[in-house]
Amino acid sequence: MCGIIGVVSLPGKTPYRPGVVVFRGLKRLEYRGYDSAGVAAIYNGRLIVLKGKGKIDELERKIGLSSIEGLTVIGHTRWATHGAPSDINAHPHTDCSGSFAVVHNGIIQNYRELKEMLIERGHRFRSATDTEVIPHLVEELYKSTGDVYEAFRRAISMIDGSYAVILISTYEPGKIFFAKKDSPLIIGLGDGFNLLASDIPALLEYTRRIITVRDGWIGYVSPSNVFIEELGRGAIDWSRYIRVVEWSLEDATKSGYPHFMLKEIHEQPRALRETYYGLIDDPAVGEAVKLLLDADKIYVTAAGTSYHAGYYYSLLLAYMAGRISSPFIASEYEVYEKTSGEGDVLIVISQSGETMDSLKALRAFKERGVRVIAVSNVVDSAIPRESDVTIYTRAGPEIGVAATKTFTTQTLALSWLVVSYAEATGKLTRSEAEEYRKWLGSSGDLAARIIASNETYALKLSEWMAGRGNAYYLSRGIGVPVAMEGALKLKEIAYIHAESYPAGESKHGPIALVEPDYPVLFVIPQHRELEKLLLGNIQEMKARGAVIIGVAPEDTVLKDQLDYWFKIPSSHWILTPITHTPPLQLLAYHTAVRRGYDPDKPRNLAKTVTVE
Ligand code: F6R
Repeated sequence: MCGIIGVVSLPGKTPYRPGVVVFRGLKRLEYRGYDSAGVAAIYNGRLIVLKGKGKIDELERKIGLSSIEGLTVIGHTRWATHGAPSDINAHPHTDCSGSFAVVHNGIIQNYRELKEMLIERGHRFRSATDTEVIPHLVEELYKSTGDVYEAFRRAISMIDGSYAVILISTYEPGKIFFAKKDSPLIIGLGDGFNLLASDIPALLEYTRRIITVRDGWIGYVSPSNVFIEELGRGAIDWSRYIRVVEWSLEDATKSGYPHFMLKEIHEQPRALRETYYGLIDDPAVGEAVKLLLDADKIYVTAAGTSYHAGYYYSLLLAYMAGRISSPFIASEYEVYEKTSGEGDVLIVISQSGETMDSLKALRAFKERGVRVIAVSNVVDSAIPRESDVTIYTRAGPEIGVAATKTFTTQTLALSWLVVSYAEATGKLTRSEAEEYRKWLGSSGDLAARIIASNETYALKLSEWMAGRGNAYYLSRGIGVPVAMEGALKLKEIAYIHAESYPAGESKHGPIALVEPDYPVLFVIPQHRELEKLLLGNIQEMKARGAVIIGVAPEDTVLKDQLDYWFKIPSSHWILTPITHTPPLQLLAYHTAVRRGYDPDKPRNLAKTVTVE
């Protein structure tokens, strides 16, 4: 899971020198990995490489990544898989003769065999990476073919695994060669230049005309031409695949906020409104409802935050439509896959649309004849492409590693789907469904009020929270996935251990840990029955000296129980993930910042997990 970028240009055609274009692109892709970075260019017929361990800005100061000269430049920002982060393991990787340079995102499964074969033929390897086999393999194959593209083609057909790979060569200085399988890659079309990158934000400054490269495609770009073929099936008319993206550059930059995460928390009102308007006439909703009506069994899968959205869907489906579904964590798909068959439906939720665990689950279920509904934020990403129907959220690009606006918009889209389904089954009357839709339509305005009124409170409370080592996040019923999401945010960016479970479980074990000053956050939905149930759960924690932090409606009957209170304007329980999550995001954000951590780049994590 890394970020890759390349540009090939005629002189003076890009707004900055190609080295600067690549450097700025790397900055935009830093969320995909940031343990090392590097660039390579062809300059005066020679290959130049600058790379090292560290964040992009540090490397810029130390070795001047952006100073690289040349009109054909590639770059990489790394999240280590094979080989620890180090100067040598940083990409680009080169061959023995210094004629080929490669950057790669993914994993080459058969690299050991290839490496042994190449070493036998005299190749000298420098790094511990799987990627380094590619330049050596191309170098080897170039000896017999004398043609860079042919050597690259043959090399790619010998590789097993996942890859978005780009290559430059001194033998063909005006081209960047590329191939893709399972890892994302996009071509950006310019005037007198063309670009390649892992993700759209890296290209937005230069073009909005893009082509999403499909699995099995291979080809090259030059300043004024693109060639693509489907491996083994011949050339493709790529003009059919050009798409104009609507995201603005503003969407992909910090716009004055200190961190992307804070900006993205504040973008939730707009993201919710846009998602809501998108849902109103989205034919995908009707198609998805049809699939669900015909479904024998319904499965729901995702990873991390998206799983919490999926779990919410599953609870809502039970509450509102009386229908049971099976939510499971994507990496556990092998347990569930065998119980599925034709006639069943799988809902896969993934903001990036590229998470490998979720993609593997999708493929395994599809293989058994299961129909797939995707919920994603990235048009044309792998999961939507392989699904029967996709409902898109319209949150815009999410750069902060911790998911924020994509969670609330996912729950909005999924709630909409449940309401539509419940209406189609007759569990809700038309006017009841309309009433719920109206509530969903108010989510943007509500989120704006909640964020504005709780920001200072979160900042204040973070002072106390920053000194804690543990926390429980509890709720009941439809509040549980929201509590789970709050706990995940705190642990992943503030590095405070946080655990979440349905509050009734305390007495079965977890309460043993509670002592004076132990923080327990309660997500209290706008739902009198749940409030009643939560009263006992709060009291048993209070009796042990726990500090009770409530995210609760203004009119909660539990207000006397709370030591701290994030106040939520009176609304409807169906909106719980949208109304109750932003205060928890803000608390985690400010706690992380107070503890001196960068919330946009949590340690050991990357935004899009394209490995299993
Ligand atoms: C947590 C977070 C991750 C992702 C997970 C799935 O803040 O962002 O847990 O939710 O890696 O990613 P997507 O939704 O892209 O499939």
